[in-house]
Amino acid sequence: MEYTRDIDNRWSFKEADTKEYTHCYHNYPAMMIPQVARTLMDEFCPKGKFELIFDPYAGSGTTLVEASIKGINSVGTDLNPLARLMSRVKTTHYDLDTIENLFSEIQFKIGFYFPSKVQNRNFDRISNYTFWYSEDSLLRLSYLNQLIESLDDYKDFFRLILSEVVRESSFTRNGEFKRFKMSEKQLKLFKPEVFKLFVTKGMRNINGLRQFNAIKRLPECTKICGFNSAIEIPSDIISNSSVDMVVTSPPYGDSHTTVAYGQFSRWANEWFGFENAKNLDSILMGGKKSAKEYFETESIRDILDEIKAKDFKRYQEVTSFLNDYWSSIKNVAKVVRNGGMICYVVGNRTVKGVQIPLDYFTAEMFEKCGFTHKITIVREIPNKRMPSKNSPTNVAGMKASTMSNEYIVIMEKNCD
Ligand SMILES: C[S@@+](CC[C@H](N)C(=O)[O-])C[C@H]1O[C@@H](n2cnc3c(N)ncnc32)[C@H](O)[C@@H]1O
Repeated sequence: MEYTRDIDNRWSFKEADTKEYTHCYHNYPAMMIPQVARTLMDEFCPKGKFELIFDPYAGSGTTLVEASIKGINSVGTDLNPLARLMSRVKTTHYDLDTIENLFSEIQFKIGFYFPSKVQNRNFDRISNYTFWYSEDSLLRLSYLNQLIESLDDYKDFFRLILSEVVRESSFTRNGEFKRFKMSEKQLKLFKPEVFKLFVTKGMRNINGLRQFNAIKRLPECTKICGFNSAIEIPSDIISNSSVDMVVTSPPYGDSHTTVAYGQFSRWANEWFGFENAKNLDSILMGGKKSAKEYFETESIRDILDEIKAKDFKRYQEVTSFLNDYWSSIKNVAKVVRNGGMICYVVGNRTVKGVQIPLDYFTAEMFEKCGFTHKITIVREIPNKRMPSKNSPTNVAGMKASTMSNEYIVIMEKNCD
């Protein structure tokens, strides 16, 4: 079984500005770079009608922003409420003057901050809050929240700024997605300036919004949803054979042993009282363990057997993810029209020293659903959006090498 890989340096976009427009808002694990989504839409768009793009793992909304810039309708879904907030805010053309005025008002009010002005001092929704925050930070965050919650239609723009501050003023170790507390030595030096962080990030986002609003606006509609494509794609949101192109980057394994989206997002999800804040990682792909394989594979059969022989538990983790992934692919395949294109940006992680070629598996599964493999582009990840080392044992400091390439699997749904 051959799925041709093409190593193409052009796709590393080494010199590119990945923070243009609203792409500069809020960090998120394993973000796709805008240039990848943009170039896929330019170079691999389907023949004929090109009106609807779908991203079944929308994350921070990179694909949706790029679709919006091109004036193409899009639907994105993600089970993570923080990801949906990001996608919503990044694709909204807020009125710049209003945003600037509101931002000035907030800055004015924080200039006259006194702890006695804080109305909500109940932090019970945040697990172990005294372990993660100083009292001073909690009160300042609560004050910002108080100012933001009165802003009606503009609230989300400022909530997204606050979300980053909530995480960065906690005692979590910087630069890691998982929740590990700083060392005693780091804690002594750590003096988070909550208001300053908020103002700096606010200015950055307003600049991004200015750039985004300056692009000629084309008519389009962006829908952001919270359904799980591994269960079903609701037909009232996307009907069968209606999608022209899928541009997405799925997780490359379950969140417990790969990228911890739930842990990274828990700060904001708990702060805003969003659903599933505490158990998100267990509802994402591969979060529920399944005892057997529900797919048939030739492309990675030997690999799975090798992992099974080495460590049965790790094998079960991998197959639980692949079961969900296969269910999702079957559902995604149905909503793509004949002649439509799918572009999956995947990572091939290593488990027990064995690399799992998720690009082969992706191509094989879509082939079973009537797609033809066009090409798999191998791109180098230059600026380490993915951890090249992670901590699969959940032990702080224990690292294992993961990957530094991405594989972009490009396929076309066969015309009858
Ligand atoms: C690699 S990230 C997507 C990154 C995105 N392309 C971006 O640029 O930010 C994968 C996303 O899949 C989401 N996810 C995992 N399992 C899911 C599921 N079953 N249904 C919907 N989203 C899921 C995670 O919450 C995460 O946001």
